[in-house]
Amino acid sequence: MAVAGVIGIALEVPDLGVGTRFYTDAGLEAETASDRVSLSCPGSAMPSVTLLKSEGQMRLHHVVLRADELDDIALLVPAHGGKLVPPPIGAKTEGLWVQDPHGVLFHLVEADKPAEKSVEHPFAINAPGHIVRTRRSAMQPVGSIIPAKPRRLGHVALFTPDVMVSVRFVTQAFGMGLADRAQEIVAFCCARRNSDHHVLAFAKSPGTGLHHASFQVADPDEVGRAGHALAQKTGKGHWGFGRHTIGSNFFQYIQDPWGSWFEYYSDMDFIDDYALWQPTNYGMEDAMANWGPPVPADFVHNYQAEHPA
Ligand SMILES: [Fe+2]
Repeated sequence: MAVAGVIGIALEVPDLGVGTRFYTDAGLEAETASDRVSLSCPGSAMPSVTLLKSEGQMRLHHVVLRADELDDIALLVPAHGGKLVPPPIGAKTEGLWVQDPHGVLFHLVEADKPAEKSVEHPFAINAPGHIVRTRRSAMQPVGSIIPAKPRRLGHVALFTPDVMVSVRFVTQAFGMGLADRAQEIVAFCCARRNSDHHVLAFAKSPGTGLHHASFQVADPDEVGRAGHALAQKTGKGHWGFGRHTIGSNFFQYIQDPWGSWFEYYSDMDFIDDYALWQPTNYGMEDAMANWGPPVPADFVHNYQAEHPA
């Protein structure tokens, strides 16, 4: 029994149009209903982001996780400080609805792992003594580049008042693994089999909320290209191009309309068998990035904690 991956997030937002424009500019495809907008990666059956109309400020409504053996998880949730709760009004009734010890709502559903969308031309680097690309150019003229295509939602990072309480809950009740952490300030959790280095991450804050949702793209070039293009469109904060120490992924973050962040990533560490992985407790100098531009002043500011529900 365990959580195997993340499927999506649902956000309450004051303006569906503003949110839809942001995520479609980022490369997601929108499907609009009367009270919500579903946004999916091209070719994906399930939405990665659902926007729900609300009157107040943006608020994380819930996180959708892919899991199996839900009956076992249902027994473990109350034993580890969580609660089983009824489905919210109008929400899907299948699966498990769970509140973690801080009241964050998760929807656990049984679903097959989506097929990996492989790339036509894998990223190839000519390194000293290791030439793998000859007789062709790596880059295409700017005018011929197609817009970014996010492949899938890879991970969600959440604010939490107590990082280790959140980690204990998802490792003990959801059967996840602690991949790595930086003290008790930020922690990264994976599925125990065939997982990206992290599926859920937690960052310390006075309250709960969404820090960022991160989308996989084809390669580091697309991280840089897509990030640059989206930052130009939004005119808001951005951070990158850079590379994380923890998880090793290349990144570019763009601030969403409500102050949280959208990440493009590529080349993350992969944990095929958690039993063979050794978690590291990093120093804070490795908490943010191995290299990259200066971190924006409000990168870890929790705007949702300013107006708690
Ligand atoms: Fe991330």
